[in-house]
Amino acid sequence: MSTIDYIKNFIRDKDVASITPSSSFLVKRVCKKIDYSEPRVIVEYGPGTGVFSEYLLQHLKPGSKLILIEKNEGFVEILEEMAEDPRVLLYQDSAENVADILKDAGEDVADYVLSGIPFSFLSDEVRTELIRETRRVLGPDGRFLVYQNYNHMEKPLREHFDHVTKEYELLNIPPMYAYEAMMLDR
Ligand SMILES: C[S@@+](CC[C@H](N)C(=O)[O-])C[C@H]1O[C@@H](n2cnc3c(N)ncnc32)[C@H](O)[C@@H]1O
Repeated sequence: MSTIDYIKNFIRDKDVASITPSSSFLVKRVCKKIDYSEPRVIVEYGPGTGVFSEYLLQHLKPGSKLILIEKNEGFVEILEEMAEDPRVLLYQDSAENVADILKDAGEDVADYVLSGIPFSFLSDEVRTELIRETRRVLGPDGRFLVYQNYNHMEKPLREHFDHVTKEYELLNIPPMYAYEAMMLDR
């Protein structure tokens, strides 16, 4: 999974949004929020070349499910190798279809939804609906983990979730905000 493959897809597809895959510093910052002590259901929106997915597979217990939803065909081809892992379910689809995808994967809810898709490219309506839909598919203690290169997701996340925290990772091109959003007392 080379950076060159990533850049080729970046040039062809505006929805790829960042010029390089996320750094290991950002991956660790986002993924430290996950409790790996038992099998988990994790949905990843926009895995790209799979830098987060690869890290998650190193930590997730057997019996976990990692459901990858990637729109870009070039990235899906790259991710196919990772999908040989029995914990991985790969969908060439849009994050907007998460509820149907989760059902197809045999699950009602997810423990975590991890997202790197460029929310700023979505219309207000689509962004709001995707945040709502994500909240709906999260289990009682579910978390929505989002990384974005500027702080435009804090307000909409706070509007739809009870509790939101924000961190900043400088060691990434570009630097990124990392959010954790959850509901309380579900
Ligand atoms: C900024 S890149 C992040 C890639 C990878 N997660 C990383 O951190 O290196 C955004 C990714 O989201 C994908 N994407 C954009 N919109 C999407 C959507 N609506 N549904 C699924 N994937 C989407 C792009 O194809 C791309 O792989």
